[in-house]
Amino acid sequence: MNQHSALTRTRGKDVAEAYRNTKTFSFEVFVQHMMRTTGCSNEVVDKIELHVHQLYPGKDLAYLGERFNSYFDRYLSLEAIKSERSYAIPNQDGSVSVPLKVWVSDFLIRGGQRAYFGDFLEEIDPNISWAFLEFDDLSWQILYQYPKVLSKKMHAAKERVTEALRKYFETPITERSGDAWFTKAMENEMRDLDLDTRDISIMMQTIYWGINTNTRRGCFWMLTYMLFHPEVIPLVMQETEKASTEGNTTPDIDYLNDQCPWTNSVWNETLRMSAASSSVRYITADTVLHFDEKIFGDRVTEFDPKRFYDNPALLKSPSWRPFGGGATMCPGRFVVKQAVVNFIAMALNRFDISIDGPQPMPTAKEGNPVIGLMSNQPGSDLRVRLRLRKY
Ligand code: HEM
Repeated sequence: MNQHSALTRTRGKDVAEAYRNTKTFSFEVFVQHMMRTTGCSNEVVDKIELHVHQLYPGKDLAYLGERFNSYFDRYLSLEAIKSERSYAIPNQDGSVSVPLKVWVSDFLIRGGQRAYFGDFLEEIDPNISWAFLEFDDLSWQILYQYPKVLSKKMHAAKERVTEALRKYFETPITERSGDAWFTKAMENEMRDLDLDTRDISIMMQTIYWGINTNTRRGCFWMLTYMLFHPEVIPLVMQETEKASTEGNTTPDIDYLNDQCPWTNSVWNETLRMSAASSSVRYITADTVLHFDEKIFGDRVTEFDPKRFYDNPALLKSPSWRPFGGGATMCPGRFVVKQAVVNFIAMALNRFDISIDGPQPMPTAKEGNPVIGLMSNQPGSDLRVRLRLRKY
């Protein structure tokens, strides 16, 4: 389904209706299907409710943000990036060149996994983030319900992640270090339900997938759009400076939401351009909500960093649906924004980031179903140069 095509249009109010109609368009059915494909038994799927309460604004979200930010604060340095020899190329002037998508994927996946599971998971399998990346890039095969025989690579990568998680949950709790309290709490709840270690690791893999897939894509698209509209970089830097001073790892979510209009505008425009969310619902009509020029104005197929700055009321439009709607509206919408915006604020304030030589804007991989943000076309990464900022 091509978001930009306008063959059959579904207007905002029709979609609002669809979101209320959970019987016909049940997202739950879809999530349950995915859990079954990733190996959960019917019994587990029936017993488990998705653990989403930690993701809503409040002390748990702040705790999670603190864990992400501590990781960013510690590892967002040129020295740490230069040590990633598989993709980072040091330049003679002291700067370093990296493929943006690979860099943010590697960095954010490791950040997310440490925030939830501590360092211990990476000790079990130092390459788990790469296995996850391989799985994630092929995970549309699950959404297309590919037979196993045609999706061996995806299943092998998935199995490697499950295996590392299984070893993790086989290790007594007292021997693991640094995991989040709610990861332990989830595990204990599952054990109380008599789930075995394999079921627990499969369930946790769904969570691992949820945290990691969209965060990395959000960072990639937001930074990419900013690099192609460099006039917004100083505006975003100025607004977010407070959230990015060295050693300050406490994200101020209210400040980011209420006092950073440019940052919010760029984030929302990134979502407008990159969210392919409606494709997961069983809707046959082409839903082009975010490209409806009657709502979003001129040049809807182009990124406009000012669009939401000039017209914040767009966020109230029924056509604005990056996170779905109704009872199943995405519970990850706060945590993803918190992680992406904090990462970008810190990265921009620490490094002068520029496009490393003339390159085209990466293109989105439309057509494959995704939950959340689209991926980029294979081979369309953006090489960027990171230089330490001198104040
Ligand atoms: C920009 C990033 C993201 C986008 C665009 C996005 C989009 C969506 C959409 C469209 C839905 C379906 C809602 C519906 O219509 O029923 C959904 C559901 C869901 N999302 Fe996200 N998502 C994002 C990030 C995340 C993150 C980071 C997490 C986890 C930490 C997450 C966890 C979930 C869960 C658990 C559901 C199922 C909710 C339910 O069925 O009750 N999402 N997301």
